[in-house]
Amino acid sequence: MQANTAEYDRWNKRYAAPEYIFGEGPNYFLAGCKALLPASGTALAIADGEGRNGVWLAEQGLTVTSLDFSPNGQAKAKVLADKRGVKVNIVEANVHTWDYPENAFDVVVEIFTQFSTPAERAVKWAGMRKALKPGGLMIIQGYSPKQLEYKTGGPGILEQLYTKAMIEAAFAGFHDVKFTEEELEMHEGTSHGGMSAVVGFTGRK
Ligand SMILES: C[S@@+](CC[C@H](N)C(=O)[O-])C[C@H]1O[C@@H](n2cnc3c(N)ncnc32)[C@H](O)[C@@H]1O
Repeated sequence: MQANTAEYDRWNKRYAAPEYIFGEGPNYFLAGCKALLPASGTALAIADGEGRNGVWLAEQGLTVTSLDFSPNGQAKAKVLADKRGVKVNIVEANVHTWDYPENAFDVVVEIFTQFSTPAERAVKWAGMRKALKPGGLMIIQGYSPKQLEYKTGGPGILEQLYTKAMIEAAFAGFHDVKFTEEELEMHEGTSHGGMSAVVGFTGRK
C-alpha cells in the first residue's frame, strides 16, 4: 500500500505552520495511562506527527520510536525533543507498509490516526499487535462514530472511526483490557477543539 499522496501533502502543509497544531503536551488519555507504563523499556508511537506523545513517553524513561510519514511534522518532533532534553528515534515511514518488528516494544501507542481505510487499519493493527512484546501495553485513542455530529476533528468518514467492538476484535486475547468511551470538551493545540466523541483502549498482549 503506497501512502496517499494527497494525504502526505495535506499533512506536510498543515505541519508547515510554526505552532504545534496539536499542542506540545501529551494527549490527555495517554497522560492518564502514566501509572500503567513501565519505568524503562521501549515504546512505539504510531503516526506521532509533531512528537507531543513520543516526547512525553521519552520523558517517562522509555526509549521511543516515533513513526510518521511527514518530514515537516518530524522536524518539529526533533525540535520538541531537543527543547525538552530527551532523545526520540524518528522514523519516516508509512504506517500501512512499515515492516513492524516482532515482539520489539514494551508499549505501543496510537493516538488519533483515523486516516486508515478499513483494509489499511487491519494491516496497521496487525503490525502494532506483532510489534508489541508479550505482556506489553497497547494504548489507543480515536474518534468514535458520534464524532460525525461534533465535527471538531477527524476525517468525517464513518468507516474510519473506531468502535469498542472493532478494537476488541483486533486485539482479542489481550488481558487487563479497559475501554473508555467518552464525550467531552477537548482542546489540543489549534486543531482539536470542542465537544468530541472518543474511544480509548488499554490492554496487555
Ligand atoms: C491527527 S494527526 C495525530 C498526530 C499524533 N498522533 C498526535 O496525537 O499528535 C495524524 C498523523 O498521522 C500521520 N499520517 C497520516 N497518514 C499516515 C501514514 N499513512 N503513515 C504515517 N503517518 C501518517 C500524519 O502525518 C499525522 O501526523
